[in-house]
Amino acid sequence: MTPNGPIKVIQWGTGNAGRHALRAIIERPDLELVGVHAWSRDKVGRDAADLCGLTTPTGVIATDDIDALLASEADCVSYMGQGESQPTQTLDDLARCLAAGKNVVNTALVFLVDPPSIPASIRDALERACHDGGSTLFTSGIDPGWSGDVLPIALAGASEWVDSIHVTEIMDYSTYPDPDLTGAVFGFGRPLDVEARLFTSGAIEGGWGGMCHLLGRAIGASIDELQVDHERWPAPDTFDTAMGLIEKGTCAGVWFEVRALERGVVRVVAAHVNRLRGDIGPHWPALSEDRSGYRIDVRGTPAYTCEIELHGPSGDHTEGGIIATAMRLVNAIPAVCAAAPGLVSPLDLPLFAGPARPLTDA
Ligand SMILES: NC(=O)c1ccc[n+]([C@@H]2O[C@H](COP(=O)([O-])OP(=O)(O)OC[C@H]3O[C@@H](n4cnc5c(N)ncnc54)[C@H](OP(=O)(O)O)[C@@H]3O)[C@@H](O)[C@H]2O)c1
Repeated sequence: MTPNGPIKVIQWGTGNAGRHALRAIIERPDLELVGVHAWSRDKVGRDAADLCGLTTPTGVIATDDIDALLASEADCVSYMGQGESQPTQTLDDLARCLAAGKNVVNTALVFLVDPPSIPASIRDALERACHDGGSTLFTSGIDPGWSGDVLPIALAGASEWVDSIHVTEIMDYSTYPDPDLTGAVFGFGRPLDVEARLFTSGAIEGGWGGMCHLLGRAIGASIDELQVDHERWPAPDTFDTAMGLIEKGTCAGVWFEVRALERGVVRVVAAHVNRLRGDIGPHWPALSEDRSGYRIDVRGTPAYTCEIELHGPSGDHTEGGIIATAMRLVNAIPAVCAAAPGLVSPLDLPLFAGPARPLTDA
């Protein structure tokens, strides 16, 4: 809420993450939905409520008319389009919103989480757009994002010395209904010799290197080298998942690790273990009782080990992760709108949390 009333928000993209953001923006009293961007033809012309499972119409109709959206009085765009499959279009969209004077909270193109380590030509274009529009861009999610910035920083906030920080997503993706993005990018269900996008040169450090640089900066370590390793694991037999049928011998598990070093010493590790079944990659790390979530180790004085398990309303962990991705950005909207123009990370923003659920009168 601002002195002038709720913050006016456009939701851009109503896919896996975006539909959760849309619901929250409609329901929160401190935010006001003023526009919805739709890329899919069958979403254009539909009421926003219909796109996120709410029953009371909002009167806000999804459109693909970007000029009309950006001509509105919106303070902020909540951008959740599919960045990785069209990076140039996504960067153009972000710059266009920023130059039009809209602050942007964004999940797409995860390398944007750490502004100082964004390639200079991209950073310059986005900074120019922020300057022209007097606007601010914040990119985050759950990982990279929340699990790799405020959580480890909170632990290290009570350290005498930090030797290294290790953040590992250990998440069973078999309930992730996302064959087109996560499935295709990670190569699940494809032969092991298919070069899925994640395993092309520079992709892993491009995606998770920013998070390592951000954590290095948080503890005052000068990261001068990134090292990457990865492994894929074949399905021992054919089985079904929310991503589709996984044929015997195709990819059913992915492990990767980015190590960020300072003068040859590991300072930060960002790792993923994503199985589609519990028996995949038996030598890879697991959480206690085979849970899905995150493990954060801060090695130093004292040493911290933290395991995080999360569930959505249905009890499913990937549903919880997708909601968390969207809410990290929706919850950031007031802080991002109040921030100075430019590209920001959690190191530039105050702490913020989701709102207390309204009490019922029963
Ligand atoms: N850091 C993290 O933790 C994290 C976690 C999850 C996702 N992400 C990122 O967040 C972004 C959104 O993820 P998501 O899972 O919500 O994506 P998604 O559901 O696969 O797609 C989001 C939306 O992108 C639009 N879209 C799809 N194909 C398109 C195309 N070919 N051209 C233009 N637009 C297209 C659609 O918009 P309409 O709805 O308008 O049709 C779709 O609903 C991705 O870039 C993803 O990498 C980050």
